[in-house]
Amino acid sequence: MCGIIAAASNRNVGKLLVKGLHRMEYRGYDSAGIALHQDDQIAHLRTLGKVKLLEDKMIEEKPKSKLGIAHTRWATHGEPSEENAHPHKSNERIYIVHNGIIENYLNLKEFLKKEGYAFSSQTDSELIAHMLEFFLNQGNSILDAMYLTKEKLDGAYAIAAIDKEDDKNIIIARSKSPLLIGIGTDELLAASDPLAISGLTNEFIFLEDGDVAQISADDFKIYDDSKKQVEREITHIDISHEASSKGDYRHFMEKEIYEQPAAILNTIDGRVGGDDVLDNIFGLGSSEMFSKVKRIQIVACGTSLHAGRVAANWFSAISELPTQVDYASEYRYKNPHVDQDSLLVTISQSGETADTLAALRYAQEKDYLSSLTVCNVPTSSLARESEYSIFTNAGPEIGVASTKAFTTQLAGLMLLALSLAKSRDVNPKLRTRVITAMRSLADTVEETLKLKDEILEIAPEIASKDNALFLGRGIFYPIAKEGALKLKEISYIHAEAYPAGELKHGPLALIDEDMPVIALAPESEIAEKLVSNLEEVKARGGTIYVFSDPSISMELKSGRIIKMPKCDFLLTPIIYTIPLQILSYEVALLRGTDIDQPRNLAKSVTVE
Ligand code: F6R
Repeated sequence: MCGIIAAASNRNVGKLLVKGLHRMEYRGYDSAGIALHQDDQIAHLRTLGKVKLLEDKMIEEKPKSKLGIAHTRWATHGEPSEENAHPHKSNERIYIVHNGIIENYLNLKEFLKKEGYAFSSQTDSELIAHMLEFFLNQGNSILDAMYLTKEKLDGAYAIAAIDKEDDKNIIIARSKSPLLIGIGTDELLAASDPLAISGLTNEFIFLEDGDVAQISADDFKIYDDSKKQVEREITHIDISHEASSKGDYRHFMEKEIYEQPAAILNTIDGRVGGDDVLDNIFGLGSSEMFSKVKRIQIVACGTSLHAGRVAANWFSAISELPTQVDYASEYRYKNPHVDQDSLLVTISQSGETADTLAALRYAQEKDYLSSLTVCNVPTSSLARESEYSIFTNAGPEIGVASTKAFTTQLAGLMLLALSLAKSRDVNPKLRTRVITAMRSLADTVEETLKLKDEILEIAPEIASKDNALFLGRGIFYPIAKEGALKLKEISYIHAEAYPAGELKHGPLALIDEDMPVIALAPESEIAEKLVSNLEEVKARGGTIYVFSDPSISMELKSGRIIKMPKCDFLLTPIIYTIPLQILSYEVALLRGTDIDQPRNLAKSVTVE
């Protein structure tokens, strides 16, 4: 999704801004641009495509400047093009970058057109530049102009703007879209993502909704929604270079797959003790609150939703609680009935997914007992707005396709299932069994990663096909869905997942030699039934690839059986995810796709 970086400095900022754009490339974008204050003029450069092209333009034109704003755009309103790329300008005076969506843009555009403003893009963002200029022309200061503009805007925004008449200040504003100030040694910075400026500072101030700030090289002032000057807390975050670089791996996704043993250890570390989970690991008072929970509502999107669907099984089996799981984008439109004593659980890698945040904000108006988030980014909006939280501590996830975020979410959700069970005083023996298994989970994941060589042998067969079917039953159905999602998003192979028992109710019609079937067959009470389902595929000439428990016996005419390491049944969803991630990665590699930034996708989806 779109990324903002801005700097007011005592030194040249061109290179620093472009470096920041490179650091935000992982978020997904289609064009990039920069506006730099230069000798009472503004150098304005934009390119369609990669940041590298913008960098080449900068090398050619060599703009020198101590004040500038830059942006990577992920198209929402208007196609990806140079004209639609940010920064947008008004009358060669005001230049702005914007993340988010202005919902009432058509009305505002009409108003501005009547006031004589001509639009040169199809975006909703351009109107912000014109609106600021309109209010400046009425004799307002830039700060007042920003407040007057804010009053007009409906929707979500993070904005950074510069004025040709002022070579010292940047004005920024936030509402429902992340924006922060970075305190550097030679400069003050603003960005939508701490990673963008992580090489320049480890001191960040996260703006709150409604905040406006004015930034110069040596000073900044923050004002709240009512224009009162306020102090906001400084947060210290160390983002190591190692965590945000690929190292010897070919892609971030590959690195993040192989980081999973360490990431899972980080999730569990300090949260279990003896043969049970520790108290209050979700925040002070969480254990007491858990004892009152009678029902759980999960909302999340994409991969995080799949984690929620696995966890619903755990909440039932371990915590003895009924659970409802909903797409965050659907939840608030179905007029949900909320039982008292229900706990709202959101799951998100980024903590900034607009649909999940909107669901949380909607739910906060309802009669929930409390809200809790399982999240990877402690400074995110979701983390700050939820009453309780657990951070998965997976480290930055840069590849657009979620890998370590998913398995660590599962580890965090298992801790939640155990904590709920402990507070409710149920299933003590089962809890001890799971805790014991969790202690060796990282080692089992490590062992599972060694299946790479076997997976490399089947990857070419899948890579040559246009479709694939994933099958799983029970707790493995969400894992089959996650496998299908991973394959389609990075290799562009059409993939669907079904509970294996549903095959004969329709999808069996698709089976022929061009439809590889990837099945998950752990040892379970329904393993025999799954084997029967696979017989139906075999009988129709389908090629089957099975990831299975060593105890399951099956013969295949074509395809392959890959034996999985042994692990406690309740934790097997985590283990069986790993080969599906490796398979998708290796298939995408063979198909030559842009693995870390697949087409049309963004890392953190900050629009609804
Ligand atoms: C898929 C993927 C997405 C995200 C979804 C939610 O690999 O990454 O489906 O899971 O956009 O994002 P978060 O977890 O940041 O809320």
